[in-house]
Order: sequence, then structure tokens, then C-alpha cells
Amino acid sequence: MKDLIDSLPADRELSDGEWRFLIEGDYDRQRLYDRADRVRRQYYGTDVYIRGLIEISSYCKNDCLYCGIRRSNAKADRYRLSKEEICACCEQGYGLGFRTFVLQGGEDAVHTTEWVAEVVLAIKEKYPDCALTLSLGERPRRDYEIWYRAGADRYLLRHESASCVHYGKLHPPAQTFARRMECLRDLRRIGYQTGAGFMVGSPFQETEDMIADMRFLQEFQPHMVGIGPFIPHHDTPFANFPQGTLERTLTMVALTRLTVPNALIPATTALGTIHPGGRELGLKAGANVVMPNLSPAAVRGQYSLYDNKLCTGEEAAESIAGLDRRIRAAGYQITVGRGDALTEWNDKEQ
Ligand code: 5AD
Repeated sequence: MKDLIDSLPADRELSDGEWRFLIEGDYDRQRLYDRADRVRRQYYGTDVYIRGLIEISSYCKNDCLYCGIRRSNAKADRYRLSKEEICACCEQGYGLGFRTFVLQGGEDAVHTTEWVAEVVLAIKEKYPDCALTLSLGERPRRDYEIWYRAGADRYLLRHESASCVHYGKLHPPAQTFARRMECLRDLRRIGYQTGAGFMVGSPFQETEDMIADMRFLQEFQPHMVGIGPFIPHHDTPFANFPQGTLERTLTMVALTRLTVPNALIPATTALGTIHPGGRELGLKAGANVVMPNLSPAAVRGQYSLYDNKLCTGEEAAESIAGLDRRIRAAGYQITVGRGDALTEWNDKEQ
């Protein structure tokens, strides 16, 4: 099995037994993280890309069982940013050196196709040198097309679980696995740099489910992959489930780097939340992106997907200098620029 780690990324399909060993086997994880770090350096050197994350609304019509802003959480304090507020965040972010803005939000029924398109147009007009990423959940293909034509470059939509049965345990029946996958395929075909991803240690997740996640990533080859530990939120049905572990999350980050070598992989906020050095450990295990929070300080605490979510300190975009110091201490450096994915393929429909 020693050879297995050295031979990754494998130029063949791994068996269930090989995947199972890599995910949960008893071996020296540092060797896996080091292997992932070497592959990341081959593709991206020691650069770390930064994205300014703007959480534009905490209203959501969905009811994901794990998420603190789910529709059924009557205790959630909700907010919605105006176009002007979003543009003000971008202005602050641009000054701080961000050249990618990520507009993320719950599936807010008030966000019409046209309103989002207007926001995209306004940002791209003011900052033509910046990339714009949307992360607004499942929408009709037409919306994705209109926003792409308005100038959006990338779209993040975690697949959450590549196992249909497990997906069904995390979501109410109205939210289907098939629809999720259809959205991801639509996004890619339209031409977006597309991000998938999943939580590690979510309730009912078995090793087979993570094997399905790895096989899905291998087949779909997303441009971006977001991976973080599940962290319970006290006002959700999953309040009493344990959080995902640091080691298992780092294992999945490293295996993802080896499975999709040219992907952009964030060291996620959730990883930083479960361990004070989580973000740096993520970078050392193959991640190459950080997404500091650019939302207005007054609402940051309200985008509460899980308990104790970081939004201050070096998680805050204003503290970019402190973040850069920590990243340099880990052996990498923040790079300014759009930070597009390295891809040789383009499956955009003509
Ligand atoms: N723990 C960790 N991650 C969560 N997300 C939502 N709720 C939680 C939670 N309780 C993640 C989901 C979603 C992303 C925006 O946040 O994977 O796609």
C-alpha cells in the first residue's frame, strides 16, 4: 500500500478496497499530505489565491437538514444585502487586493433573474479585471445562462454527496440528487468554471459515500472543489450529531488534490473553525485557495450555517496582512490576480 500513495494520481481506476484504505486505513497521513502538496506545487507552485466572499442573503427556501439558514429555522436572524451594499463590499475588497468576488447566498426567492443579472453587470462594468463567482444554489438553466452572459465567470454548487441514498438523508424529498447533478452539468456546459464539493463527517455518511464522492470528482473533473467538515448547528435536526474530524477532512482534501490535480481547492472556513491551524493544515494537504469574508461586518454573524462559524480575525478580509503572514509562515504566499483554474479542456457547448 506504500506504493499506492506514491503512485497517485493513479492512471487507472482505484478499486473499492484501495479507496477504502486511503480514506480510513491505518497509515501515516503525513505521507499522503506531502504527496498532495508536491502535486499542488507541480501545478500551482506555492501560490495561494484569495477570493472575497460576500454573503448576499441569509434567506433560503430550501430545508437542508444540516444548515443553520434552512427555511424551517424560525430562530435564524435573516438579512438581505442591496445591490448598493454588495457593490460597496466589492469596492472595499478591490482596495484590499481582491480580484475575485464570490456572491454567495441562500436560495432567496426574492432574488429575481434580472436583479442578479443587474448586480453581475454592475460589478463586471466597474471591475473588468476581476472574476465574479456566483454561489446561489439551484436555478433554472435559463438563469445560469443569463448570468453567464451578463459576465459571471464561475459558479459554486457543492454536490454535497455523490451517493443518491446519502443525499436523500441530508435533504428533504423536494430537493433531489438528480436535480443537483443536472444543475452541475448545466453550469459546465454553459461555460462556467464550476465548483463542486461536500462535507466530511456529515450525518449517516459512510466510507462508501466518500468513495462515491471521489469517483464523481474523478469523472466530473470540476474546476473547484470545496471540502469542509460537517459542523452541527444547534437549531437544526442535526444539532446532536458529532462534527467531522480534522484528520478525515485533511485526508479528503489531499485525495481530492490527487484526483483532480489542477483543481482550485479552498482551505475552507469550516476547516479553520474546527482547529486554530486548520486553514494552514489544509494548504499543506493540497488546498490552494482561501476565501476571507468581505460581507458587511454588521451582518457577518447572521450568515450562520453552523455553530461558531469564523468571521473575524484572519477570516475577515480586512485582516489580509495577518492572513498573508500566516500563509507565508506555512511556506506559501498570497497572489493577487483572478486565479483561474488551469484547464486544458473546455466542454462549453458551441
Ligand atoms: N457544517 C458544515 N458545512 C455546512 N454547509 C452548510 N451547513 C453546514 C454545516 N452544518 C456547507 C454546505 C453548503 C455550503 C455553503 O456550506 O456544504 O454547500
